[in-house]
Parts: sequence; C-alpha cells; structure tokens
Amino acid sequence: MTSTPSPVIHPAWLPAEAFRALGSRRVRVDTAGDAGLLVGTVLAEVSRACARFGGSVQPPEAPADLVLTLAPRSRGDAARHGGPRPDRDLDGFRIGRRGASTVVTGDGPAGLFYGLFEVVRRGEAAFDPGLADERHEPAFGLRVLDHWDNVFVHRVMGQVERGYAGGSLFWDDGRLRDDLTRVGDYARLLAASGINAVTVNNVNVHAGETHLLTDRLGEVATIASTLRPYGIRLHLSINFAAPVILGDLPTADPLDPDVRRWWSDTTERVFETIPDFGGYLVKADSEGRPGPFSYGRTHADGANMLADALAPYDAPVRWRAFVYNHRQDWRDRSTDRARAAYDHFAPLDGRFRDNVILQVKHGPMDFQTREPVSPVLLAMSDTRLAVELQVTQEYTGQQKHVCYLPPMWSSVLGFQPTGDDGPTLATRLSGGVLSAVANVGDDPFWTGHPLAQANLYAVGRLGWTPGRDPAEILDEWIGLTFPGTPRHLLHALMDDSWETYEQYTAPLGVGFMVRPGHHYGPDVDGYEYTPWGTYHFADRDGLGVDRTVATGTGYTAQYPRPWSERYEHPDTCPDELLLFFHHVPYTHVLHSGSTVIQHIYDTRFAGAQRVAEMQAAWAQAAELVDPAVHTRVTERLAEQRRSAEEWRDQLNTYFHRKSGIPDAKGRPIH
Ligand code: GCU
Repeated sequence: MTSTPSPVIHPAWLPAEAFRALGSRRVRVDTAGDAGLLVGTVLAEVSRACARFGGSVQPPEAPADLVLTLAPRSRGDAARHGGPRPDRDLDGFRIGRRGASTVVTGDGPAGLFYGLFEVVRRGEAAFDPGLADERHEPAFGLRVLDHWDNVFVHRVMGQVERGYAGGSLFWDDGRLRDDLTRVGDYARLLAASGINAVTVNNVNVHAGETHLLTDRLGEVATIASTLRPYGIRLHLSINFAAPVILGDLPTADPLDPDVRRWWSDTTERVFETIPDFGGYLVKADSEGRPGPFSYGRTHADGANMLADALAPYDAPVRWRAFVYNHRQDWRDRSTDRARAAYDHFAPLDGRFRDNVILQVKHGPMDFQTREPVSPVLLAMSDTRLAVELQVTQEYTGQQKHVCYLPPMWSSVLGFQPTGDDGPTLATRLSGGVLSAVANVGDDPFWTGHPLAQANLYAVGRLGWTPGRDPAEILDEWIGLTFPGTPRHLLHALMDDSWETYEQYTAPLGVGFMVRPGHHYGPDVDGYEYTPWGTYHFADRDGLGVDRTVATGTGYTAQYPRPWSERYEHPDTCPDELLLFFHHVPYTHVLHSGSTVIQHIYDTRFAGAQRVAEMQAAWAQAAELVDPAVHTRVTERLAEQRRSAEEWRDQLNTYFHRKSGIPDAKGRPIH
C-alpha cells in the first residue's frame, strides 16, 4: 500500500536561508549564567543557525561578530521566573556596534530573542560597520492573536469559525492534537513577528469548549507549555454561563456571591495549573451568547466580576464591545447597528476595574472592507481599550483573494481623533493591547493563500511600531519569505490589493452585499430584509445609510469634533465612506468628479481588470518562485478572478436595473 507523503510545511518568514548572515558568523550569547527558558531558546536558535551555516557559538569572553546580552538589571530574571514574563519593560532591546561586533542587549530574556529576530530580519545589514544604535520596544504591551478555533467540529462553523486555512493547529474533532510540533513552530513564527500571546479557542464558547476552563484544563496547559519557549502566553475565551453549564450553580449572575466565588476558585486552579496564564476573553450578550443582561446586570458588573477573579494574578479580562441587536426588524429604520457598541458602553466609562480591557472591533459594524473607526475607540477616556483587527479575511476574500490588509489597519491606528494635527489612535492606546483574529490553520502554507501570511506577519510588526509604513513591512516580509525572488513581483500583486478588492465589492463604504451565512461572494440584497442590521437601502433613486443627526440615525454625533461635522455633511464626508454615512442619489457627484453610479461601474470594471492583470503577472513568474507556492497562488488567483468578475457583473447589473442609468462608457452590463 502506498501512502501520500505529507505536504511540506512552508517555512513562512523563517526559511533556513534567513539565518545565513547570523549563522555564518561567530556569535556569543552572554547571559552570565542565566539558564531561563527564553535564553535557552535564543541559544538553541543560534546553535542551529551556526551548525547549518558554518559559524560558531563562542564561549564567554571570546571574540564575536555578534554578542547577544542581557541588560544588567534583568540578569537573573530568566532563572527566577523559569518562564516568560513578556511585560512591556522586558520586551525591549538595543542594537548597535561596539568595536567590531554587533551587540544586542535585551531588557530581559524576551527582549533578547526579539533582538535576535531583529538580527535575522536585517541579515547582512545587521553586521554593517555603520549600523546605527537603535532602541526598540513594543508600542503595545500585549500583542495577541485570537483564534476562533473550536474543540469540537461545529455543525455550521466547522473546526475553525471563519477559518480559511484548514483545521485547527490545536484541536482535531474534539481532541487536543497528539502532535503539537506545528504549534511550537507557529509560536516561533509569531515570536519572530513580535506577537506575545494567543487565545486558543473561539469567542463563541459552545458547551463542549466551556470545559477547557476546568476538567480539560490539562490540555490547555499542554498547549501553554508548547507556546512558552517563545514567550507566547496563552489566553482562554470563556463562557459567561460557565458556572451553570458546568453544572455547579443555578445562576451566572455576576453579583451572586456563589458565582463570584466559583470564578475565583476556578481562576485559582487555572493559575495553579498554568502559572503564566494570560487572561480571559469574553463575548457576552452578543449574537446569542450568554451575558449579564440575562440577570438584569450591566456589562461593568459582568466584566468586573471576572476582573476581580483575575486581579490576584495581575491578569486582565478582555471584554468585547461587539454587542448589538441581531434580531432587528428591517422595517425599523431608527435602529442602527453601527450605534450599538457606543450606546451600550460609553455610559459605563469609568466603571470598569483597572484589569478590564474593553476590546473594540476597529469599525462600528463588523470587519468590512471599509468602515470608519469605531467611535468607542475615540471615547471612554477612563476605560482601558484595545483595538480588535481581523486577520482572517472573513469579508475581504476569505484567503482566496489577495488582500494585503495593513494599509487598512494603519488607517485605523493612524487615525487622529482630534483632527489633522492631533495624536494618533495608536498613541492613545499605546502601552495597551493590540488584538487580531487569527487566520492560521493546519494548511501547509499556514494561511491557505500563501500571500495571506503577510497579514499575519504585519500584525506583530504593527504591534511594535504602529506608525510604520505598511509598504515597508510588506517589503520586509517579501525579503524574508521569498529570498532570491525579485521583490517587485510580489509588490505588483500585493501593494494595492486592498483597494482592488474594494473596487469590485460593495461600493463607497456601504458594506456587506455578501452571501448570508458564509459571507463569500456577491449577493446585493442577501442581508437586506434580514434581522442583522446590515442594510444598503438601495431603491430606484439612490442608496446608502443615512446616519446623520439631521435626518438619519444620529450616529455621526458619536464622533468627537471635527469628525462628527465632517461625516455629517456629504460635501465634507470622504468619498470612500460616503454611503456609510449618507443616502444619496445615483447622480450625486463625488469629490472625484464622478457620479455615484458611474463610480460604481468604473471601479467594478477596473477592479476585475486589475485581477486579470495580477493573474497574468503571476503566470510570468513561474520560474522565479517555489513551485508549490506558485501552484497554490495560481489556483487562488483563478478563483479571485472568477469571483471578481461575478462581483462586477452582479453589482453593475443590479444598479443598472435599479437606476436605469446606462454606463457612460457603454461597456457590457447584463
Ligand atoms: C462576525 C462573525 C462571527 C463572529 C462575530 C464576532 O459576526 O461572522 O462568526 O462570531 O463576528 O466577532 O464575535
């Protein structure tokens, strides 16, 4: 009997070649006898690279081309903790030249290996005699990827909710995977990108998964030890109704003393089992999940109860602000889903404990291709806030389409709440949390589409330097992942891919128009008469959602000035968000000079055309990239093209029929 060989796992941004510059030199890891876990990781990385490329690991005091050392104040930390303490202070490092050596000085053991990966990223340039002294430290203390992985294969959502890269790395059909080698490799990739925490289960914690907190905690501990050598802390999504579901109590009322004791005791056991446990993530009173509303309590009551249970361990609860009415009547024009998070949470500002972090989706709706920044992130100055990005491309092509998302994320992180001269949102949130929904599965390329790895890589990098140019991050990723391939090839496919995706999908910020349920492909009216609150209101005269104070839902008032005013008026509202904020006639003239209807036609044609060009460019590159990557990307581009043309034709036909206005350029509309 013959068996199919397992596919080779793609090395992503850590191919062996990336270690050549370091591995062919004399390297000294000078940690004054510290034998902590993270220092061990650094030593193992260095030894492996030197063994491969002919360099040497130098004994103490011996001359070296690269010296990796710990800052004096942190010497001993590694040994004392016996595990990672990825606190903000200890993640930083310095890099520079001392005589003929490049020296990396970690603030702590984690800083040491973040510094090591900086050397890897720079390659030969790290050994340039002119290397400038630099200090690096992460802008966000907690840089966490939230996996929406289920333990049990869910009837509708499968093993990974909104996962487009195969099964879960952790769980397989109800069980912890026997072989966690890939989890270790994953931790290494994440650490090299700058991530320091992972939530291992879906925010929708179903009955079976609720047990991870108690009787299946041993499995969680096993994952935690696989992540630990790379400084990745483990977080768990918990079920607010756990005290009831696990059968112990008749209520989950957050003010009930027995419930509070249950959470304290349970949390104590979690920390006994996993001393460096990261914290809880909670989706409550959202899309049918249980929460404090069932007991007439507020979200502050709910979050604070968990915060109190976690406080003795100095750990946070991340409480999600994604709370809205998903059983809305579409006939009711006054309810606006975009308003919901602010309406629910802004009145609670100042009422959360210090270790509650309110985790807010970057936009007010739901990870659409284009949304304004959530006004919750611009309010609540007495609450710790975290921004939640979505790496998994639920509404942005599901890892079948090339869609490099960092330009979108940068527009969020670089948003200036008080206007054009003010500080950025990233500055306001700095020191806090950057979270992102993960896009990884057991696919040999990790992310299904090999080019979707760039999104994963970039989250970690933005967690350190949120103001960094996304094009520069992309360039860095290309250099590491595709050594030897001309970079312009990948840039040609990826630089504008978010705009391209936007061009052929829902126009001008109106959002959705996707097939209900799985959210892939066009269906203009798919959500129009549903309870989900995601409407475009197209009729024969125009389209868009009136969210103004003057005539609409009043949502614009949730923004501080000058944004409330800018968004309120169509003449100052940016084109790309026009239909998010306004219902306008098809003949409305945009700042670009085009009418709305002509813009719809032009950009749909342009977007689909652009995908055809991407496909042609990639076909030319067959000899220049790894054949397995070439084949996978070729397949995905064929699907992207089919899908882009379907989007183009459905949207153009739909709006042509609605408006009766022909395309000024007379192109085929069906
Ligand atoms: C979206 C997504 C769900 C997910 C939810 C969330 O609505 O479709 O699968 O559970 O977001 O973020 O909680």
